[in-house]
Amino acid sequence: MTHLSSTQAVPEISSVPRHIAIIMDGNGRWATKRFLPRVAGHGKGVEAVRSVVEACIVRGVEYLTLFAFSSENWRRPADEVSLLMRLFVTALEREVAKMHANDIRLKVIGDLSRFDANLQTLIAGAERRTANNRRLTVTICANYGGRWDIMQAVEKMLAANPGATGFSEDQLAPYLAMAYAPEPDLFIRTGGEERISNFLLWQLAYTELYFTDTYWPDFDAVALDAAIISYRERERRFGRTSEQLIEQKKAS
Ligand code: IPE
Ligand code: IPE
Ligand code: MG
Repeated sequence: MTHLSSTQAVPEISSVPRHIAIIMDGNGRWATKRFLPRVAGHGKGVEAVRSVVEACIVRGVEYLTLFAFSSENWRRPADEVSLLMRLFVTALEREVAKMHANDIRLKVIGDLSRFDANLQTLIAGAERRTANNRRLTVTICANYGGRWDIMQAVEKMLAANPGATGFSEDQLAPYLAMAYAPEPDLFIRTGGEERISNFLLWQLAYTELYFTDTYWPDFDAVALDAAIISYRERERRFGRTSEQLIEQKKAS
């Protein structure tokens, strides 16, 4: 199933965001503040993922997308990169059975070809095993970049339509890495920075943005609720005026 883009059609709005996308930032600073090595922050970050996944299930969120490793994160010191890879492997080994039991579908998007063979096999196995689960779709963005996503989609679209010109947005959308999900309703970035860092560039066109100083390892159900409350207070106009929205509400 493909979803209409928010720039083309007006999506339905509900009080609980259907799709939440998060840049999980601040692990390193969380650890440094406690005189711990940065890796301790990443370990604690995995625990935060667990509690936010649970909270999303309870609240009826349908899609949760987590930025775990960006295409730029290879620039980090080699030992931090390899530790992050090892954490990814252990998290998959430990969590997939539980996710499956909880009816969670796991997806991993990004340029996975750069990961070692063992990790690639684990990812493929986890996706296969959970493919028919429907309660919550958790997407992990790994070696993901928003520009990479757009470029790989353009390449696939061109390959599927040799010689064609004059493409529309609708024609590109099915080739984006997250074509199976509606666009995010709510974007959250923890850790205090207010930037997108090459996350979902195409898909965030009309997403509500929420930034918090809370470091990712401290982010929990209460913090998630604060973000959802902020989201509820927004008026999502999708190009229309407030007056139009009031008229529409009266009519429905
Ligand atoms: C986010 O935390 C996790 C990854 C990028 C893998 P950081 O490691 O970026 O933490 P800070 O920003 O240095 O505190
Ligand atoms: C963004 O965090 C990527 C992830 C959370 C995986 P970074 O901490 O790498 O972002 P920048 O480079 O500071 O913007
Ligand atoms: Mg950071």
